[in-house]
Amino acid sequence: MERPHVFVARRLPGTAVARLREQTDVDLWEDDLPPPHDTLVERLRGASGAVTLLTERIDAALLTACPRLYAVCNVAVGFDNIDLPAATAAGVLVTNTPGVLTDTTADFAFALLLAGARRVVEADRFTREGRWRTWDPGLLLGTDVWGGTLGVVGMGLIGAAMARRARGFNMRVLYSSRTRHPEIEAGLGVEPAELDVLLSASDFVSLHAPLTPETWHLIDARRLAQMKPSAVLINTARGALVDQAALYAALLAGRPAAAALDVAEVEPIPMDDPLLTLPNVVVAPHIGSASFATRAKMAGMAVDNLLAALAGERPPNLLNPEALARAPRRD
Ligand code: DGY
Repeated sequence: MERPHVFVARRLPGTAVARLREQTDVDLWEDDLPPPHDTLVERLRGASGAVTLLTERIDAALLTACPRLYAVCNVAVGFDNIDLPAATAAGVLVTNTPGVLTDTTADFAFALLLAGARRVVEADRFTREGRWRTWDPGLLLGTDVWGGTLGVVGMGLIGAAMARRARGFNMRVLYSSRTRHPEIEAGLGVEPAELDVLLSASDFVSLHAPLTPETWHLIDARRLAQMKPSAVLINTARGALVDQAALYAALLAGRPAAAALDVAEVEPIPMDDPLLTLPNVVVAPHIGSASFATRAKMAGMAVDNLLAALAGERPPNLLNPEALARAPRRD
């Protein structure tokens, strides 16, 4: 029997690609940078499956141009790079990697919270610039984390993991979410709040919502103005949850005090983005899930999903079960 042809959009940590090669013909994109969109379409034209990253845009036009494509397995929990309704309509199964990156990402979100609160990056820069002259009682003052209030926007797995960390710092935790989570409220002692209330009451606001048409620019100029002047905004979710131009203006105006971002509206963030001129902004290159172990697990999970789909089984992390009812596009 002919082996299925699959495209893998980047070299991946761990043994996932080797496992995939045992059962399929793998076309591996070896470059460090993502394939240009046209090239992606070309390479997917004859493929039954794809392992994609959040840098690969899987849109309706691509799905039409690639009629053999049956499964797209994202190496990420987020899937805003994929037009899910279009994939469902085309009978293409889409999967993600929930669960395995929860704690790694929450660790990094908390690291950013601490960095923003205690000006860790500014302090390092200060020292390297040879500006440390004496112990100065007014030098690089920040905000206390212990006992502060954290607002978690989006109470999914990562939001809950962030709240769990905050409890260890004796923090009050407010959350806003589309739905109430009584079990998390009871288990972690977190309190539900309307977003406006959360923003005005929190010392730290951490974003953990998916990017959808409803959450695009959720944090806009009006909402930034509701934050405390001393607050820190943390974003490890998706850049477009925040109106970045409005964030720059708000930081310049002194409210909130700082932002610690792992994501940007355009990635990589352009080097002439005005946010990069501000000392009170920390920007990391979207590395929330970047631990050796977690990235290997994510890759393994995506490959498990793809192998299941190609075997005619239901992939464990299927996002669009409705697609199963469509005509199978498998080889
Ligand atoms: C995701 O999984 O969606 C992250 O942004 C990358 O780990």
